[in-house]
Amino acid sequence: MTPDFSNLRLDFPVLDQHVGGHPLVYLDNAATTHKPRAVIDALARFYERDNSNVHRGLHALSMRATDGYEAARERTTKFINASESAEVVFTSGTTASVNLVAQGWGRDTLKPGDVVVCTEMEHHSNMVPWQIVCQQTGATLRYIPVLGENAEGGLDMAAYDELLLAGNVKLVAFTHISNTLGTINPATEICAKAKAAGALTMVDGAQSAGHENVDVQAMGCDFYAFSGHKMAAPTGIGVLYGRRELMDVMSPWQGGGGMISTVEYEGSKWKPSPERFEAGTPNVADAIGLHAAMDYLDSVGRPAIGRHESELAALAYDALSELPGIRILGPGKGQPRAGLVSFAFEGVHAHDVVTFADQDGVALRGGHHCNQPLMRKLGLPSTTRASFYLYNTPADVDALVASMQRILKFFGVE
Ligand SMILES: Cc1ncc(COP(=O)(O)O)c(C=O)c1O
Repeated sequence: MTPDFSNLRLDFPVLDQHVGGHPLVYLDNAATTHKPRAVIDALARFYERDNSNVHRGLHALSMRATDGYEAARERTTKFINASESAEVVFTSGTTASVNLVAQGWGRDTLKPGDVVVCTEMEHHSNMVPWQIVCQQTGATLRYIPVLGENAEGGLDMAAYDELLLAGNVKLVAFTHISNTLGTINPATEICAKAKAAGALTMVDGAQSAGHENVDVQAMGCDFYAFSGHKMAAPTGIGVLYGRRELMDVMSPWQGGGGMISTVEYEGSKWKPSPERFEAGTPNVADAIGLHAAMDYLDSVGRPAIGRHESELAALAYDALSELPGIRILGPGKGQPRAGLVSFAFEGVHAHDVVTFADQDGVALRGGHHCNQPLMRKLGLPSTTRASFYLYNTPADVDALVASMQRILKFFGVE
């Protein structure tokens, strides 16, 4: 049964407000999403009843906190279909997860002559950590190009084949869904090709985890990273999935309490995953909030959420493409597109667009979206991005388009 998306807004208290005298139309979901009442209540319940440190305590509150934290790990294991909970490490978000792999795996493993492959559409979070570790180890970073003057052609898969054929590729790091283009990359195919060439894969799932069913085993990836705050969970909690064989041999990124089995003055031994990668007091409350968010999303149904967002993005694409002087990035009309539309108006800066839209109560994002090299390649200083989530409706698309028409009129673009 298709869920009734028109009422889901009521589950999100923050959406019940006016901005600039207009009901808030929140279209900045690729940056961060709002939290349903169920998540806010789970956080409040934890702090009101169970707040305590985990793992090392033998009193009632500590045991409850530990149970809640580990239950969140079990829930996450199911959410992405990892084969066991030792493959699920809690981090502060996608950025921390990628850095953990770059430093924990890459720094020990990579050497001069080795190649790491990224894509030209990577968020800085899945590019800069690879630049750093390549500088540290002498490995080389290469990029799969994007095709088309508006990147409408997606990744150049023939160029990817050539990169793999050239040899020495040790890891392919790519985004599942582009936060700037709305492109949905063929993750399973990219992983299968990497595997056939003897390379590992690191998937940036920041824009996919809360928007569609993710099955890391079916995808065939070695690492998958995502952030709670982009999928209705609190800020400051994220996940690194890593295949057990890799996690068992990977070095810790940070040292401290909780990740050791024994410590001597001369040196220490590590616990296995996941503790090995969770030094210090973990983010217990937000892991519990993440659990609540996963339950909430699955009560609506992730495939339905993804379809709903893509439908809104298609509506927005069609209406916006009628506007004068507009350039829309990413997949063309009728092509599969995730729930966002990124565009630029000739002669009007994205920051002006976003500021004007805010006066209409429409929250958008303007800038390079942490994709500076891609923007440079496309010859754009910035774009305006509208990104949708489950609580958005076709009326929000209408508000977006009306606001854009007002802006164009103001700037005299006819
Ligand atoms: C595709 C992609 N990767 C990585 C990130 C970084 O996520 P976080 O800031 O939560 O670590 C983002 C955030 O915008 C993103 O869109």
